[in-house]
Amino acid sequence: MNNSYMPQVNPGTILILLYVIYRLSLLLLRTTEIRAIYAKIKLGGKAKRLPPGTMGLPYVGETLQLYSAKNPNIFFSMKEKRYGPVFKTRILGCPCIMMSSPEAAKFILVTRADLFKPTFPASKERMLGRQAIFFQQGKYHAQLRRLVLRAVMPNAIRSRVAEIDAVALSTVRSWEGRTVNTFEEMKTYAFNVALVSIFGKEEVSCMEELKRCYYTLEKGYNSLPIKLPGTLFHKAMKARKRLARIVANIIASKRSQQQLEEDKGLLASLIDPKEGLTDDQIADNIIGLIFAARDTTASVLTWIVKYLSANPEVLQAVKAEQEEIIKSKDMQGQDKVLTWSDTRSMEMTTRVIHETMRIASVISFTFREAVEDVEYEGFLIPKGWKVMPLFRNIHHSPDLFRDPENFDPSRFEVAPKSNTFLPFGNGIHSCPGNELAKLEIRIMLHHLITKYSWSMPEAEVGIEFGPFALPLNGLPMTFSPVLDAPPCM
Ligand code: HEM
Repeated sequence: MNNSYMPQVNPGTILILLYVIYRLSLLLLRTTEIRAIYAKIKLGGKAKRLPPGTMGLPYVGETLQLYSAKNPNIFFSMKEKRYGPVFKTRILGCPCIMMSSPEAAKFILVTRADLFKPTFPASKERMLGRQAIFFQQGKYHAQLRRLVLRAVMPNAIRSRVAEIDAVALSTVRSWEGRTVNTFEEMKTYAFNVALVSIFGKEEVSCMEELKRCYYTLEKGYNSLPIKLPGTLFHKAMKARKRLARIVANIIASKRSQQQLEEDKGLLASLIDPKEGLTDDQIADNIIGLIFAARDTTASVLTWIVKYLSANPEVLQAVKAEQEEIIKSKDMQGQDKVLTWSDTRSMEMTTRVIHETMRIASVISFTFREAVEDVEYEGFLIPKGWKVMPLFRNIHHSPDLFRDPENFDPSRFEVAPKSNTFLPFGNGIHSCPGNELAKLEIRIMLHHLITKYSWSMPEAEVGIEFGPFALPLNGLPMTFSPVLDAPPCM
């Protein structure tokens, strides 16, 4: 047969082509998505299927849909409506399974937490410090958790009330006579409380420099991880090195002091010689703790101000509760300074804090990664896939919270069902700082509500994400001292 119409291919080229195809297939087979096909067979041959959902374009997946929705929560709830509480997608190159039921959150975070490890992008791990508590599992994680918890449990923080109270008062006083960006100011407050909780009350001379380096680190945290001179990322990594040196100096000076035994601060807990942590391990955890403590608490406080401003009857009820504390001190001839037991008696205020954390869900979800192929409710979660319990979807489910979009603190008169209210997560990685966060929020609210009247210069209604959900522009507000307020103590 005349094959002159067939292209003339040289056998060497065919061999090269075959080799390239072979290498590409090996590369593909290594990817977690292809592994999923094999896992179907491995999991008892019972044809476990992946959850429903779409993976979007190769590599980018549905990242654009997620980010172009402006509000990521729209993306999550749209998916949940279409596919149910367990669905798959691909975000930032990673195949993910998102889960929005209390049962699934419990499975991932509590009952089978051993099958899922915490996961962060490598650049974020480097910035916060690879040995920080968030990224750990097993014995080292348990040790860090014990050391952190013993410094932030109610027994330890009850002695910090006076110091936090002083920080709250000086913060609110600095706002008088100007319009402030509430979120920025609350960040300063939460930062100063974190420093007191970590380093204790004595003046540490390098605190200002520590703050400056932290601000540079923060600016680069969400930037593209390009380590070229001049980029935010490069500056942040330099600031990170400097921060580690500052913390190392503080550690050295603390170690030379003799009164560690009485110091219940976080640093004292971490440098306990019996624990044998290295300076690098301690520095990574100190920097990580500031990171965990600051923006979360500040954004909850900002949302509380926003919701109280929009709900005058709730504000009135909180005010009555806070003024009652002052009145009863007056009647008993007590000092007006807040005490630990005052902060524990604020029931209405605590319901407002809980309802704000539910409705604002400042941490909308968290990430884990499956360490092996896992089966959940007949679905396959392949090894290496990211798994995301969606806290916000749970908090906004009409099946779990009646009229979920309505701000109604009275719903917390009854304790929520287990695994339906997860502002601090759940399980072995749940927030150890939750009592400290609530304490500093209560103290700040006490002063704001009993001593100031507030107004918003303009009706700010929008939300922005940075990465936490926040009222637009950080909620500009003016706080004016009320004339008949009790004198500041
Ligand atoms: C209202 C404020 C806060 C909120 C909403 C919050 C929320 C959370 C959540 C949801 C987690 C779990 C993340 C996960 O499972 O992946 C977490 C972990 C953590 N939080 Fe908080 N947090 C707050 C304040 C604080 C404070 C004040 C501290 C300071 C001690 C702190 C320290 C930590 C640490 C160290 C972890 C990691 C725990 C571990 O991996 O074992 N947080 N936080």
